[in-house]
Amino acid sequence: MLDTSPLANYLGFFALISYIITLLPTTLRIVFPRTKKTEIPKLLLKYRRQIGIVAFLFALGHGVLLVRKRNFDFFALQTYWIYVQGVVTFIIFTLLTITSNDWSVKKLKRNWKKLHELTYLAMFLLVWHVIDKMWGHWSYLTPLGIVGITTITVLFLVRKMREHQNKLSKIK
Ligand code: HEM
Repeated sequence: MLDTSPLANYLGFFALISYIITLLPTTLRIVFPRTKKTEIPKLLLKYRRQIGIVAFLFALGHGVLLVRKRNFDFFALQTYWIYVQGVVTFIIFTLLTITSNDWSVKKLKRNWKKLHELTYLAMFLLVWHVIDKMWGHWSYLTPLGIVGITTITVLFLVRKMREHQNKLSKIK
């Protein structure tokens, strides 16, 4: 039987979906080059920052509700181990949100790109987060969340392979 979902889970799920949307434009462009001709990647790219901030806000709500529900002990190291994927992902979301503005792009120069590559670490952590935290008590949202985050992760790996092949063929 699947569990019904409390608000905290909905917020986590919406955070996950908005976050996946921020990863789509670059991935689609390389894995499915034909999508370049459509308006979708352009539109997603135009609003990527705003969608990322929305993902952060949903994640904040999700985190706060679960921290309260589970009596999170901020002074016990063990807590951070149990929630490591959530906590690290949240730190990454926070860093990316703070630096999602033109001023930071200018100030951080090349480091901005490096910093924002942390988004892919968050992607892997979230596959682990959802599977680990929902193990044995899936809600109706869980299968959708798992399919979404796994699909984007596989597409990311395909993208990296394509980029690698393109590099090699240029060297030849
Ligand atoms: C930062 C980005 C985060 C995202 C995108 C995220 C996303 C999710 C998703 C999609 C689920 C599964 C919901 C379901 O299938 O019903 C989930 C579950 C969970 N998350 Fe997160 N999460 C994040 C951060 C956090 C943080 C910071 C914490 C707490 C410290 C946390 C604690 C949990 C817990 C305890 C569950 C299991 C809930 C349950 O047992 O019903 N998450 N999260």
